[in-house]
Amino acid sequence: MRRDTTPVDRNLALELVRVTEAAALAASRWIGRGDKNAADGAAVDAMRKAFDTIAISGTVVIGEGEMDEAPMLYIGEKIGSGGPEVDIAVDPLEGTNICATGGPNSIATLAVAEHGGFLHAPDIYMDKIAVGPGLPAGVVDLDASPGENLRELAKAKKAEVNDLMVCILGRDRHKDIIRACREAGARIMLIPDGDVAGLIAVSQAGTGVDLYLGSGGAPEGVLAAAALRCIGGQMQGRLLYEDDAQIARAREMGITDPNKKFAVEDMARGEVMFAATGVTGGPLLHGVRRGPTSAYTHSIIMRSKTGTVRYVEAHHNISLKPSAFVG
Ligand code: FBP
Repeated sequence: MRRDTTPVDRNLALELVRVTEAAALAASRWIGRGDKNAADGAAVDAMRKAFDTIAISGTVVIGEGEMDEAPMLYIGEKIGSGGPEVDIAVDPLEGTNICATGGPNSIATLAVAEHGGFLHAPDIYMDKIAVGPGLPAGVVDLDASPGENLRELAKAKKAEVNDLMVCILGRDRHKDIIRACREAGARIMLIPDGDVAGLIAVSQAGTGVDLYLGSGGAPEGVLAAAALRCIGGQMQGRLLYEDDAQIARAREMGITDPNKKFAVEDMARGEVMFAATGVTGGPLLHGVRRGPTSAYTHSIIMRSKTGTVRYVEAHHNISLKPSAFVG
């Protein structure tokens, strides 16, 4: 029998979903209540407690901030009940505003890699482009125009540009990209927030998304790269700096070339696992549905070693679960 003895053991993937489920259930209490900090706090608290039940010796490398900024899940924090040494990237509530306003696409998410596997991305913007699996390497490029990328992608997919759907965060800074995509004839799915789900959507046929374009958080970029690493999608990211202090911060975090165009493998190396649970529903995941005694969650789990993508639907009996894990 073949034993799986690598640090990122396969059973861990199924354990991790409990952690994102706990964060999503806790955040779901706050959907549409206009308090993004309370929603985020509930997700962080539940995720932190759920990690204590997982047999790993984890170090948070993408988290809620520096030790002096975040009480829990701060960068450098040690988590887990003991076991293989792994690095952890978390975003307990990705899309805090959308959860607070009851909009689409907020998720609880995390990724795990062998020690040293994740790019230590500072909390600044990253320019991003992504496509799904099964396409020629380099079919799109961050340095090409939206029109060029769309034409190359259409050719590779044996489609017309007007068959393609581009997912973009609805921001003023993206108006030129949006105009260029429209001029090229592509359709656009503008999302209000939550680019991790938007980036991963390129890899899932049912979402209808072919290409992701635009800038968002760099930590979110690393989480999405972890997922695309598991599925075989392509992504490029380049850090965007507002001042010299941000460049210095990137260097402090080990980034030797601040202008590097990072590929998926530069952001998530070695064996990687990714898990996410929907908080509010979107093209990728259903949101939490809850009644007085029960709750439903929808999650995705993936593992780079095998490329298996699992969707997990869970029906929770709230009365039988510790309150810390259901909110
Ligand atoms: P939060 O969950 O931290 O609110 O992030 C939501 C988000 O939309 C991310 O998905 C995205 O990467 C980032 O914000 C974009 O930043 P901005 O809102 O400044 O454009």
